Amino acid sequence: MNTSDRHLRFGWRSLFVFLSLGVVLETLHGFKLGWYLNVSSEIRRLMFTLAHSHGTLLALVNLAAGLTLRTVKGFELKPGASLALLWGSVVMPAGFFLGGLVIHDGDPGLGVLLVPVGALLLLYGVGSAARTLGKILPAK
Ligand code: HEM
Repeated sequence: MNTSDRHLRFGWRSLFVFLSLGVVLETLHGFKLGWYLNVSSEIRRLMFTLAHSHGTLLALVNLAAGLTLRTVKGFELKPGASLALLWGSVVMPAGFFLGGLVIHDGDPGLGVLLVPVGALLLLYGVGSAARTLGKILPAK
């Protein structure tokens, strides 16, 4: 599968997953679930909201990457950068989600440690894309 196809497939699937998480959060509100809405669970709500919003927006970033690869002549994403973008888009929202699943006295669970790992992967992937594009589309 070529790189553009991979980012487009991942982007649409990931968008489906994280919009579904939005529907789950909506449902937790609908049923006024204390596990999610109590003041003592504030950190869970924050973590789940961050998982939903980051997952959704990163899915859109992957769609943008797939479309850029198709439309900008000469633009290629290095294999490592493409993988970093894909894995970062999984690892970061997964870290927020796992950090909210198990909480300790107002603190997120250990899963939240995945968040900085995902952030580094994303910085590498996006930085590499920006550098390559900068060479192909130099500022006039
Ligand atoms: C492109 C689509 C979407 C984006 C970019 C997006 C982004 C966000 C962001 C940034 C927040 C945090 C808002 C804040 O706390 O100030 C949020 C919260 C929320 N979103 Fe989405 N969202 C999207 C679609 C959806 C859909 C389709 C649903 C469900 C039908 C949904 C349900 C929710 C819920 C329930 C919250 C609040 C969670 C809470 O505070 O307990 N979202 N969303």
